[in-house]
Amino acid sequence: MHFSNFATRYQKSTGTVRLMEDLGAATSATGSICQLGGGNPAHIPEVEALLREAMADLTADTQAFGKMIGEYDAPGGNVAFRETLANLLTEQFGWALTQNNIAITNGSQSSFGLLFNSFAGSFPDDSHKRILLPLTPEYVGYFDVGLAEQPIFEGRRAEIDLLPNRQFKYRVNFDGLQLNDNHGAVCVSRPTNPTGNVITDEEMAELRAACREKNIPLIVDGAYGLPFPGMIFTPATPVWDDNTILLLSLSKLGLPGIRTGIVVAAPEVIQLIQNNNAINSLAPSRLGPTLLTPLLQRGQLQNICEQLIRPHYEKKRDHALSVIEEVMSDLPVRIHKPEGALFLWLWFEGLPVTSENLYQQLMAKGVFVLPSRPFYPPAQSSWRHQDECIRVNYAASDETVVKGLTEIAQVVREQFRNAAALVAR
Ligand SMILES: Cc1ncc(COP(=O)(O)O)c(C=O)c1O
Repeated sequence: MHFSNFATRYQKSTGTVRLMEDLGAATSATGSICQLGGGNPAHIPEVEALLREAMADLTADTQAFGKMIGEYDAPGGNVAFRETLANLLTEQFGWALTQNNIAITNGSQSSFGLLFNSFAGSFPDDSHKRILLPLTPEYVGYFDVGLAEQPIFEGRRAEIDLLPNRQFKYRVNFDGLQLNDNHGAVCVSRPTNPTGNVITDEEMAELRAACREKNIPLIVDGAYGLPFPGMIFTPATPVWDDNTILLLSLSKLGLPGIRTGIVVAAPEVIQLIQNNNAINSLAPSRLGPTLLTPLLQRGQLQNICEQLIRPHYEKKRDHALSVIEEVMSDLPVRIHKPEGALFLWLWFEGLPVTSENLYQQLMAKGVFVLPSRPFYPPAQSSWRHQDECIRVNYAASDETVVKGLTEIAQVVREQFRNAAALVAR
């Protein structure tokens, strides 16, 4: 078979491909596996019971069910859902939205390619623009989508604040952060995958002001944020204005299987999404919006997020922290302050092997985590810290988390011991 140049993008493995393949491998493995790798949310029985109830109501409603499975939706996505969500966001956050500010996609991941390639790459004036990531490490899923020959991401190294209890927090380094004509947009995930960081209100205000001054959009990936799933454990104000493109998703609520993403943006951006949906998939899925509209209308989804989802992850986070305290007390480990999402980002300062090597060794023992390097854009200049961290998803069962973290501690301890033995020789 002869493939075009375009196909080469899909012939190689990438960070995102590997992440999803690991997830598939761990799901179908028969041996003892500790899946602390991919981004699957937890199965929370109370949440799943409520979603099952909503699904039963839907299947019992002959007309609604028939429409949902038997008709394409509008290319911008289900209008009733968009209206309901626009009203909710307006009431909750005062953002003055209508359905023309909202589009549905088949998962947030499917919006990134369109958005990033629309604000970066080649421009009619022959310029080449990039997406600035002001705080790396950043979500691995962004980096593979560029269609241009040249890299479309520019990452900036985080400042590190050391905190008590062996924690640290990344901070945007505003010194020298100067937006210029080579920047087409700025993008942050908040809460951040992979670190669990929540960029502060002050940092957001500064980024927003810089973007507005330069007339380029600020893309905020709220896959873990407010209003849903609300996996955020620190005070933080959600932001939107007509220069902000906010991405929301139903995945981390517990619905990654039904692939529903949401874009909240100015109408000209929504039009792009709508046309992209029509061209590439005719229409987005109706399932997520149809299932969730009644829950949003009754205010039930907000209760689910506040009363079930957030407390669940807070408890899981605290448990994972206590396990680390116990099994890694002798190791030089620091944990990024876990302020949101479902990950712990562990920094083994001075790790004698790369985190990629650690990842391989752990996988051979059936423990899946993610190494740190893929969370930096490929073109970003090297930094020792880039190879010293791993991401651990703590949504798995407590038993799996204990087993996985204990195994990680053992393998890391061995690396430090081997290195010390070599030096002593
Ligand atoms: C930060 C972040 N954004 C977006 C996504 C993609 O979510 P979706 O399932 O809506 O495509 C993920 C998935 O893990 C994520 O971690």
